[in-house]
Amino acid sequence: MLRAAGCVFAEDEARLLIEQAPTPADLAAMVSQRTAGLPLEHVLGWAQFCGLRVAVDPGVFVPRRRTEFLVQQATALASQHNQTSQHNQTGAARAVVVDLCCGSGAAGAALAAALGRVELYAVDLDPAAVRCARRNLAAYGARVYEGDLYQPLPASLHGRVDVLIANAPYVPTEAIELMPQEARIHEPRAALDGGADGLAILRRVIAAAPLWLAPGGHLLIETGQRQAWQATENITSHGLIPKVSRSDDLNATVIIGARPTTRQAPGS
Ligand SMILES: C[S@@+](CC[C@H](N)C(=O)[O-])C[C@H]1O[C@@H](n2cnc3c(N)ncnc32)[C@H](O)[C@@H]1O
Repeated sequence: MLRAAGCVFAEDEARLLIEQAPTPADLAAMVSQRTAGLPLEHVLGWAQFCGLRVAVDPGVFVPRRRTEFLVQQATALASQHNQTSQHNQTGAARAVVVDLCCGSGAAGAALAAALGRVELYAVDLDPAAVRCARRNLAAYGARVYEGDLYQPLPASLHGRVDVLIANAPYVPTEAIELMPQEARIHEPRAALDGGADGLAILRRVIAAAPLWLAPGGHLLIETGQRQAWQATENITSHGLIPKVSRSDDLNATVIIGARPTTRQAPGS
């Protein structure tokens, strides 16, 4: 049935559904949800991400494999921070990490699990995503806020954030109709739509990042490969030092903006 409905990995999906369903009646209901087009992760109630099982409620964005690359880059930078701070201070340092547009909280959870020590904040506009992220991030002592980008974060974080990650919506509005039905129909438009060129939300993320980043802190955003140049220009124009990282294996592009450790002299 799953294969006939167009599920590419029908055998794997069937195995997961059989494992998860408490009764044959539940299994039948789950198969019919899946064949009707509901994403597998919404049927199961979880997604596999960076080796974690992350809860994903219906209507919440399903974390993508490619975003594991953003997490890898962010983990490397945050653990560098933990190491250098430990040399300078007594006691174990904890990187201050913010996950903007956190959705289910998958990226923040994976980062916290990999790092061990972290002071984690997460924000999403969508109440369903916030509820889900609170569950996924509870084990890491994270604070999860509902609201628009930086707006709900405490002002005490100004100039203190070591790693700021944002997998914000970046699909150009016109390209949404080309996306697979699972995304178009079962994920909220606000999780996908990045405006005319896909960068409307990311421009706002970049513009305010210097206010929140600690000296030497890093902003990491996921974009499409074709958006990388424009996003990099934008990062430079806000005084951050850009770097583009690419994984062809995961088809993932991450733009990193570093806040300089010292203020640049005007005109330099
Ligand atoms: C592409 S999804 C990514 C979710 C998560 N970061 C991940 O990788 O699984 C984008 C998320 O951004 C949220 N979002 C969209 N606009 C927002 C805004 N202005 N402020 C906060 N969150 C926003 C959506 O609700 C959605 O959960």
